[in-house]
Amino acid sequence: MKVLVIGSGGREHALCWKLSQSSKLSHLFCAPGNAGISSIAELVPVSAEDIKELFTFAISHNVDLTVVGPEVPLAEGICDVFRAGGLRIFGPSRAAAQLEGSKAYAKRFMAKYGIPTGRFDVCDNFVYAFESLQKYSFPVVIKASGLAAGKGVIICEDIGSARNTLNAILNERTFGEAGSQVVIEEYLRGEEASILALTDGEKYACLSPSQDHKRLLDGDRGPNTGGMGAYAPAPVITPQLQERIEVEILRPTLAGMIEDRARFTGCLYLGLMICDDGPKVLEYNVRFGDPETQAVLPMLKSDLLELMNATLDGDLDPQAVELHDGAAVSIVMASGGYPGRYEKGKAISGLSDVPDGVTVFHAGTSLKDGQIVTSGGRVLGVTARGTDIKSALDLAYEGVDVIDFDEKYFRRDIGYRAV
Ligand code: AMP
Ligand code: GLY
Repeated sequence: MKVLVIGSGGREHALCWKLSQSSKLSHLFCAPGNAGISSIAELVPVSAEDIKELFTFAISHNVDLTVVGPEVPLAEGICDVFRAGGLRIFGPSRAAAQLEGSKAYAKRFMAKYGIPTGRFDVCDNFVYAFESLQKYSFPVVIKASGLAAGKGVIICEDIGSARNTLNAILNERTFGEAGSQVVIEEYLRGEEASILALTDGEKYACLSPSQDHKRLLDGDRGPNTGGMGAYAPAPVITPQLQERIEVEILRPTLAGMIEDRARFTGCLYLGLMICDDGPKVLEYNVRFGDPETQAVLPMLKSDLLELMNATLDGDLDPQAVELHDGAAVSIVMASGGYPGRYEKGKAISGLSDVPDGVTVFHAGTSLKDGQIVTSGGRVLGVTARGTDIKSALDLAYEGVDVIDFDEKYFRRDIGYRAV
């Protein structure tokens, strides 16, 4: 099969890496990709958000399957366009992508179908939103309802910051149209975990449960980022808890989507808080997580291309999904200054000196005069698998230690909860 992967981050490098191991693959394209992906796929210089150009490319190059990485083209209906044109594509329809594209929709959906989540209100004007705050204690969570590139969730410690946040989102529109509605939500305490499930809308297969580290600094302190590292499996998800999540959350979600005439196909991501009284949904994503995918796919023994095809054909057999024993970790190396301002164009050395067993997934890299240079905040995901989390971490950090670029930054404590 000729396969096209859409996107340019670490997640897409991991998807390309896993797909390229399939005996069913004849040619791999990636649009637009990055410097690391260029060693395993032919890069296509088309933006991940240019649905029309992507469709034209897939038609003219006889692409047999397209796999979508990021959420924006999904929310804009890329799968509907491709399917209407007779093309095979892995991902949800625009209607189903609402689960991520509108937090207001997702929360109302969960309320309708009794899926455990934090108490909430949806508001579209400041006065009503401010009044609703009275029902909550602090801290309280305020979320822009629409897509905000992972920046739309603000945890407010007191009434002053909650008022300022509501004013910024609803009146000043700091997130643009994504902030035309806000979700006010009860603050949940517990440990977070992510579940990725491949699904045709009814049958599903869960990949290894994982955990990412959103905060910049060691000890899970400092500002939120796109994710500084991930590991899989997350021991907080015991087999009993996994069963509970499937019964109380995953199956009712899939059934509810069918009931709402928005059957979900593709990869459904459950962002969970494991609270004292059970697992609750923090968010749905309608795609593979980043950086979770960089740890989860190395744990998958089965052929991903076969699994995606089976999913699309309605033949997904959960028993056929084989996982490796042990654990995998992915350590993010970032540009100094991220998630604030940072410089680009720093030469990266040591990429070919990493020890055997270390795979380096590129995120923000590009090629400049034959040299791989930094071109984003999160630059690399240095990844290893081991017989346990400790050995995976030791190996991955050996890899991190031989890679160098000016002002590199990474956390030293990825996976500490599991160790
Ligand atoms: P989301 O994009 O909705 O997952 O939110 C991003 C991050 O904000 C989550 O990974 C949590 O760390 C935090 N968060 C979101 N909602 C809540 C909540 N209700 N209680 C506590 N933390 C939350
Ligand atoms: N790791 C969280 C996300 O992919 O949005």
